Amino acid sequence: MDTILILDFGSQSTQLIGRRVRQLGVYSEIVPGDVPFGRTDLSGVRGIILSGSPASVYEAGAPTIDPRFYGLGLPVLGICYGLHRMTTDHGGRVAPLGHKEYGRARVEVLADDPLFARVPERSFVSWMSHGDTVAETPRGFRVIARSEGGLPAAFADPGRRMWGVQFHPEASHCEHGMEVLEAFVADIAGAHREWNMDAFFRSEREDLARRLAGKPVVLLISGGVDSSVVAALLLASLDHDAVHLLYVDTGLMRQGESGEVMAGLRDLGARHLHAVDASERFYAGLAGVGDPEQKRRIIGDLFMTVQREEIQRLGIADYWLAQGTLYTDLVESGKGVGSKATVIKTHHNVRSPLVEELRASGRIVEPLATLYKDEVRALGLALGLKREIVFRHPFPGPGLAVRILGEVTRERCDLLRRVDALFLSELRSRGLYDRIWQAFCVLLPLRSVGVSGDARRYGWVVGLRAVASLDAITADVYPFEARDLLEISSLITNRIPEVGRVVYDVSSKPPATIEWE
Ligand code: XMP
Repeated sequence: MDTILILDFGSQSTQLIGRRVRQLGVYSEIVPGDVPFGRTDLSGVRGIILSGSPASVYEAGAPTIDPRFYGLGLPVLGICYGLHRMTTDHGGRVAPLGHKEYGRARVEVLADDPLFARVPERSFVSWMSHGDTVAETPRGFRVIARSEGGLPAAFADPGRRMWGVQFHPEASHCEHGMEVLEAFVADIAGAHREWNMDAFFRSEREDLARRLAGKPVVLLISGGVDSSVVAALLLASLDHDAVHLLYVDTGLMRQGESGEVMAGLRDLGARHLHAVDASERFYAGLAGVGDPEQKRRIIGDLFMTVQREEIQRLGIADYWLAQGTLYTDLVESGKGVGSKATVIKTHHNVRSPLVEELRASGRIVEPLATLYKDEVRALGLALGLKREIVFRHPFPGPGLAVRILGEVTRERCDLLRRVDALFLSELRSRGLYDRIWQAFCVLLPLRSVGVSGDARRYGWVVGLRAVASLDAITADVYPFEARDLLEISSLITNRIPEVGRVVYDVSSKPPATIEWE
């Protein structure tokens, strides 16, 4: 399949570049910028994009690429640092600006060039984020756009098939950014738009049938969108008798979730649907534990232990394990993509030692590992999953445990479940649920004083979280109307007397994360 290869130098927006290319209908693949040339699969690659980076090219240790990538005859587009890399590698010079050009900046197109052929105006608002600039243009490069500050904003060397932009066409704030990317991907690189969820399903179905070759496959159902889509994919691809779906009720799920999940899977024709109530074991394992990473480890390991015991009890031998890992999970856990990525949180579905053990024996299958969340949703719909399941807000593997700060107990989970269910049902009835990427409540380990009638009340503090996001890599606070927030807050404190105070979390990601732990 025609592919755009993205060499990642560690920018926050590399994932966004990957998604944008896919939105254009072309498969994209991200590899670390320093990937060994000889070990890179170039079959199907029609063009290369060099990403941005927090580094400066003139610093010691700045990320580099093997120069042979330039010599393939494939078109190369450098974005920000990618442009600086390309400039330095071809005898030009990059220097500090002395200040940062950050945010919206108007760009004027100076020359007719295929890169701007789809942009309908000679001047448009771009998105900049740089402290360095091209001070000397390499021989053969020509400036094809300039920013309003007089700085070069885009370069071209059509003879050597190289283009570079100082701005970020992948950013949603960049007017005509998609047209610039489309011109590179479709016109300059000539990549065919073969990537869609039907094509993915067809090739994945074949791949699953070939790899699993009739062996049983076990999938741990978590209640989230991803594992439901994997279940639907397995059921649509394999003999239903080979698909074992295991639902472990950890006691950390949202209200009513267990029943809904099971019903949804039954609708898809699941034949082997096993449910285990392991909540007591999880509460016991988490007793007295307040450290977030320790909680994740305990939950991840218990998940796997319970799963192993169940599989043994059910007599399933020589099986594969399927997981709902997404492309973004791999980056955030510092695995696979972007050697410079750091571990922000341990996503147990990627890092558990038990998973690593199965991975080492080659018996893990992660059919969504190349997909972004919006693609997973499109696939879920194509496979016949209900909209309510497909558009459900993401839910973390460790469940409510990472939304209860401090110790996790059944009582605290029950309380949080009630508050959360009320918050979400209010968002639905106000028509807000589908506009929000993720909304939930957090139970703080704090009580505060209030009054109720004439009596003093000592109640728990609950945090509301609602964010807008495209991929959970960055997130903005959802800008509620004040009236909605005030009404929801009184509803919670009126209906749930254990809650004394409601606060709204107004932190974006970065610097905060979406979950509190
Ligand atoms: P953060 O909190 O890191 O979350 O901004 C980003 C997205 O990932 C979800 N999340 C998890 N998902 N296992 C998961 O499967 C986890 O351990 C985990 N931690 C966070 C979070 O809900 C958000 O959508």
